[in-house]
Amino acid sequence: MTGPIPFLDLGAMPIANGFLLPSEVASEKRYPLRVGLDRDTSLVRLLDIIPPELLFHERYAFFSSTSRRMNEHFLRFAQKVKASIRRDGFVVEIGSNDGIMLQHFAALGMRSLGVEPSENVAKAARGLGLRVESAFFSEETAHKIARRDGYADAVVAANVVCHVQDPLALFRAVAPLLRPGSGIFIFEEPYLGDILRLCSYDQIYDEHASYFSLASVSILAEQAGLELVEVEHQETHGGSMRYTLAHKGSRAPGESVASWRETEEARGLADPLTFTDFAAEVAHRSTELFSLLTDLKRQGKRVAGYGATSKSTTVTNFAGIGPELVSHICDTTPGKIGKLSPGAHIPIVARGRWEADAPDYTILFAWNHADEILAKEQAYRDAGGKFIVYVPEVKVV
Ligand code: TYD
Repeated sequence: MTGPIPFLDLGAMPIANGFLLPSEVASEKRYPLRVGLDRDTSLVRLLDIIPPELLFHERYAFFSSTSRRMNEHFLRFAQKVKASIRRDGFVVEIGSNDGIMLQHFAALGMRSLGVEPSENVAKAARGLGLRVESAFFSEETAHKIARRDGYADAVVAANVVCHVQDPLALFRAVAPLLRPGSGIFIFEEPYLGDILRLCSYDQIYDEHASYFSLASVSILAEQAGLELVEVEHQETHGGSMRYTLAHKGSRAPGESVASWRETEEARGLADPLTFTDFAAEVAHRSTELFSLLTDLKRQGKRVAGYGATSKSTTVTNFAGIGPELVSHICDTTPGKIGKLSPGAHIPIVARGRWEADAPDYTILFAWNHADEILAKEQAYRDAGGKFIVYVPEVKVV
C-alpha cells in the first residue's frame, strides 16, 4: 500500500503568518489544511501543498529573536555544535532567520554561513555582521557552498526542516555537504510525540509541512545515506526533538536513540489508531475553548490575546474565535502591530496597549512561552488579571 492515511481535516485556513491590513481583507485567500500519516515513512505531514513563495518572502512576519529564553536556548545549541566538531570547523545553518543562532557561532569564534530565503530577516542578520546567503537550501545551494567554502563539519537547522515540503530531498542535499567521515547534521523541530501528548494541534499550520518522530527521521535518513545517531528532547516550542544524523556507519548510534525508539513504539507514534484518537481530542479541545470564551462574553468579561503566533491562526479559525470573543491580541513584533490576525481578523496591538487597558482575561496564544510571559506579566495577575491557556488543557491560571 502507498499514499498517506488522512486523519485530520482542519478546514479552509488563511496563511498562518499572513497578518493583514484591513484593506487586504477582501483579497485574503484560504487553503485546505489536512494532515495524514505516510504509510511508507511513518511521516506525519500536510496533505495540501502551498507554494513556498506564498509563505516565505520579503514580508515574512516571523523574526526569531523575540524571546529571551529562545536566545539562551540557541546559545546552548551553538555550544553543543562547537563541542561536537573539530576546533576550526565550519558550520552551515539552514534557515538562519534574523541570526539568532548564527550570532552565537560567530561569538564562539566559529566559521559559519547562514542560508535564508526570506530577505527581510536575512538583512537583519547581515546587519549584525553575519554571513548569510539568500536562498532556499537545495542540492544546488549545497554544491555551491561546498565548492566555495569546503565541506561543512556541521549543518544545523532549528524549526526549519519541518517547513520543507520534501524533507528527503533536503536530507539528500545535506549529505554531500557534510565532511566525509565526521560531518554531522543536527536539527530540531517540534516533536510529534509532544503534539499528540499535549494535543497541541495549533502546531499544525501551513508552514509546518512535516511533524517528525524518530521513526520517520530514521527512515528518511536511511534513504539519504545518513543515520540517526543521537536524539535529545528539548522544552522549546512546546516540546521539540533534536536529531543528530551522520553519514551511515561513520558514528555509532547512542543509547538515546534506542531508548526513545522504545518510548515511541509504546506510544504508537506510527500507528494509525493513535491519530484517529488525536483527531477526536482536537475537536473536543477546540469546542471546550470556544465554550469558555462564549461563557466569559455572556458574563460581560473583556478578553484579549497575548502573542500573535502562527499557531493562533489555527486555533482561532478552527474553533471559530473572532474579535467578538477576543477583542485584540498584543505582540512585540513591529511588523504585526496595526494589522489583523489571519482569517479571524482580530486587531494586533502593541503590548503597551494591552497593559494600559488590562482585560479581565488574556488568552495565551504564545503558550509555548508561558513561563517567560507569566513571570514577566506578574503585575497583571497581581492586579486580578487572569490568563487562559489551552495546552495541555483548557484552563484559567
Ligand atoms: P512563537 O511562539 O515562536 O510562535 P509561532 O511559531 O506560532 O509564530 O512566537 C511568539 C510570538 O509571540 C511572536 O509573535 C512574539 C510574541 N511574543 C510576545 O509578544 N511577547 C513575548 O514575551 C513573547 C515571548 C512572544
